[in-house]
Amino acid sequence: MSRFITFEGIDGSGKSTQAKLLADYLSGKGEEVFFTKEPGEGKLGEAIRNEILDRRDIDIEPYAELCLFCADRAQHVRELIVPKLKDGCTVICDRYYDSTLAYQGFGRGLDPNLVSHMAMASSLGVEPDITFFLSIPVEQALLRLKDREKERNKMDEEPFEFHSRVDRGYRVLIEKSIPRIKVIEASTSPEEIHTEIKSFFE
Ligand SMILES: Nc1ncnc2c1ncn2[C@@H]1O[C@H](COP(=O)(O)OP(=O)(O)OP(=O)(O)O)[C@@H](O)[C@H]1O
Ligand SMILES: [Mg+2]
Repeated sequence: MSRFITFEGIDGSGKSTQAKLLADYLSGKGEEVFFTKEPGEGKLGEAIRNEILDRRDIDIEPYAELCLFCADRAQHVRELIVPKLKDGCTVICDRYYDSTLAYQGFGRGLDPNLVSHMAMASSLGVEPDITFFLSIPVEQALLRLKDREKERNKMDEEPFEFHSRVDRGYRVLIEKSIPRIKVIEASTSPEEIHTEIKSFFE
């Protein structure tokens, strides 16, 4: 049985840590797991990730950034996510379209309705079965990133106010009580958070 699991939250909330722990856990239970992330998978994705997150010499217009993230997603869904789901895999994706709404809609201040339409369109109709939103105070998440100097990207370097707006975007989404979105208290230890996430699969 295939299923599609996504992880969401502000930078430093622990998505990558928890997505990997869950991938290992479900593999250990005998599931065929495909672990992936946004942006940056596949050839087009790598090129786009390089432009959006790594280059420092282009000041990217927010609408251009929105289009790049959506382009990355559409290609990722067609090339990797859909084929893996068809193969019966459990697909775990570190960020998906909720990130576009939070970051481009709220963080960058673009029209949330337009962003929502574009984010949806870029998913080619592929919705997650379950989304874990890792909930943590912005201050605490940003402190965690300070210990991760080597892997810093352009989003990490945005000011505190940007991350607060992104957090607000996620909260607006959560207030809609969308059943697939599970809010996980993420200011505790990696083990405690993993235990809570695991409980959805027992
Ligand atoms: N529960 C935790 N308690 C303390 N530190 C943690 C916890 N989970 C992850 N970390 C550490 O905090 C940093 C950020 O974690 P991680 O990379 O998993 O976050 P992320 O949400 O994927 O961030 P980004 O959005 O920037 O990719 C890492 O150095 C990680 O080792
Ligand atoms: Mg990460």
